[in-house]
Amino acid sequence: MTQLSGPDRRWLDAAARLARSALGASPGHLPAAALVVDEELQLLFGRGITGRTVPFAEPQAVEEARGTARGRTLYTTLEPTSLWGRTPPSTEAIIKAKLARVVIGCANPDHSQSGQGIVRLRSAGIDVLLAEHEPSHRLYAADRLTFAKNRPFVTGKLLVSRDGMIGRSDTKNAVPGGPQAQRFVEMLRATSDGTMIGAQAAKVDDPKLFVRIKGLDTRIYQRFVVVGARGVDTELNLIAGVSGHPTAIISVSEREFDVPDAVDIIVTDGRNGRPDLSRAMAAITARGVVNLLVEGGAKLIEGVIAAELMDRFHLIQTDSVTGRGGIPATMLGGIDGRLRAAGLVEVDQRTLGPDKLRTFERER
Ligand SMILES: NC(=O)c1ccc[n+]([C@@H]2O[C@H](COP(=O)([O-])OP(=O)(O)OC[C@H]3O[C@@H](n4cnc5c(N)ncnc54)[C@H](OP(=O)(O)O)[C@@H]3O)[C@@H](O)[C@H]2O)c1
Repeated sequence: MTQLSGPDRRWLDAAARLARSALGASPGHLPAAALVVDEELQLLFGRGITGRTVPFAEPQAVEEARGTARGRTLYTTLEPTSLWGRTPPSTEAIIKAKLARVVIGCANPDHSQSGQGIVRLRSAGIDVLLAEHEPSHRLYAADRLTFAKNRPFVTGKLLVSRDGMIGRSDTKNAVPGGPQAQRFVEMLRATSDGTMIGAQAAKVDDPKLFVRIKGLDTRIYQRFVVVGARGVDTELNLIAGVSGHPTAIISVSEREFDVPDAVDIIVTDGRNGRPDLSRAMAAITARGVVNLLVEGGAKLIEGVIAAELMDRFHLIQTDSVTGRGGIPATMLGGIDGRLRAAGLVEVDQRTLGPDKLRTFERER
């Protein structure tokens, strides 16, 4: 077996960058990218990226190489699958194309399949290297969690004013962020499979939760409205409005809703009229959601934190001041202190135009 070289690492880095564009864009399949490369010439002959109609990256890369893959190297972020489904598995396309070497960023995060693709390729005489490549591993952190715990990887976000508020209860007035912050939030939405909002935030802001970024505005993600004891206004944009995004209401069983047929109702057990969020997450996973964005407001965010379901949190600190009548981001001191108390540590800080982004992640 060959060792990982500097050029190997660079090609894998390139594949991981390409695969990032498939996050949230390959429903039902793990996002991945693959490159067919001539190692001697250091030239690229084919590339494949998973997408809505492309379940696997490797066969696409081989096809793009148009019969020139023989003897060359395939770099892929994810272990090729060896399972037969509606289409032949990726391993067969690689074997048929007579590639000499396959460098894999990360093994299959599904434990029941992990390693099988490598065994199949080696049995066909191909030199296979499992690189344990960190950027590839990061691509599948959510899938690993979903396979292990039957829940999505949960990312929360809040925009918070200088005085620690997220908006006002009396007006349609969530804390405004600058254009860069708005774009960042829309990117989070576009790279998630689903987005969740509390009934109160849905009522006050009446958002559509769309992505307006050119090129990403056709991404489809599911929208979940969490309803508690006070119910939900079914005339809201998210429920009564027409869009290509599926919407589901999450509620305890006692409640009935008069909603359009296109809106699903997910019923879970709960307490005090509020659904149990852990059970809700299992139902969301069953709908194919691996990456879930929780958009707020404060009560829903606190519910997710308290249930120990928050994996990553983006705190966007804006320069605005809300003043009297504001809704605090948390009732338990500052939101950053609340996150730390829940076992999330700050891993990154950067600016988004006039606003400051601080990212927290669960310590593993
Ligand atoms: N700055 C931002 O980033 C941002 C983002 C979104 C919203 N906002 C602002 O946030 C405000 C609304 O926030 P909010 O804190 O009042 O309400 P919220 O978090 O939107 O609402 C919580 C809603 O979810 C329901 N719920 C059901 N199950 C729950 C559970 N297990 N845990 C927690 N809640 C559960 C609650 O029901 P019951 O209480 O009826 O039982 C309530 O209706 C608005 O003013 C909006 O503008 C700001």
